[in-house]
Amino acid sequence: MSSKAAHIIVVGNEKGGSGKSTTAMHVIVGLLQSGYSVASVDVDYRQGTLSRYLANRRAFIKAAGSDVKMPAAYSITPSEGAKDGFGDGEAEAAQLTLLMEGGLINHDVVVVDTPGSAGLLSSLAHSYADTLITPINDSFVDLDVLAHVDGVRMAVMAPSHYAEMVWKQKQARAERDGGSIDWLVMRNRLSSLDAHNKRKMDDILRDLSARVGLRVVPGFGERVIFRELFLAGLTIMDLKNAVGPQALGPSHLAARQEVADLIGAIRLPEAIKLSPTLETGNDLAHGKG
Ligand SMILES: Nc1ncnc2c1ncn2[C@@H]1O[C@H](COP(=O)(O)OP(=O)(O)OP(=O)(O)O)[C@@H](O)[C@H]1O
Ligand SMILES: [Mg+2]
Repeated sequence: MSSKAAHIIVVGNEKGGSGKSTTAMHVIVGLLQSGYSVASVDVDYRQGTLSRYLANRRAFIKAAGSDVKMPAAYSITPSEGAKDGFGDGEAEAAQLTLLMEGGLINHDVVVVDTPGSAGLLSSLAHSYADTLITPINDSFVDLDVLAHVDGVRMAVMAPSHYAEMVWKQKQARAERDGGSIDWLVMRNRLSSLDAHNKRKMDDILRDLSARVGLRVVPGFGERVIFRELFLAGLTIMDLKNAVGPQALGPSHLAARQEVADLIGAIRLPEAIKLSPTLETGNDLAHGKG
């Protein structure tokens, strides 16, 4: 039985480059700023993007004497075999089980970033989710990982392998502790230009949501600010509003609102719910405390 008190948010999609690590980092920082105690688990030990993002943040705090908040950061250490690209993932899976069932009890929320490929470790991580966030790039190529689409009728023919894996992990979760997984799909890198494509994606996702039990929630636009702060370990949520030429522009404020809206869509349990303090407006100071 799971001993967790924390609400576990897993960010997953076996399609590479869909924005999992970016989403994980922004959710972590947004939740920290709202006052939650947050732990992070980087399951993607090969790329370690989230771990590097957080290492950059640690370095920034040290160099600048900044008071931006850090999560308690955990990662999976690969066994010798896994490092060489061999091994069946059992040793790493055992580590993850220990972390999820024992080590994270003292936090309100745990955010887990997963690799962009299928595997034992990724499936296991999904099975611990209270909330699963799946970012998908705004393209039919990326949608194909979730559902096979009839291009003539523009309708879902069948759920794809990732949706089936999530279904299996929902069952695994229910068997383990009777819990359920709230599956959120968010569109990432949305372009304001392609309204036709956007409408078609909307229709298909609506169809899919009814068939496989997912919720389509607000996503992120294609914005430079979502990627340019990686080396500093910061996010748009950390930037202070300045006046004059440094003032945050409309795109920055929109990005901040997108992150707040995504976090607002996560159903956190009443027991840990705080009053919303996520600041998005132009007159507030960020990065404090
Ligand atoms: N909303 C966005 N606007 C602009 N760039 C973005 C956005 N989301 C992600 N990116 C960029 O897209 C690339 C892929 O993002 P990210 O690394 O978060 O994806 P991932 O799903 O974690 O990838 P992987 O499957 O390889 O782990 C990165 O260069 C990231 O900076
Ligand atoms: Mg990643």
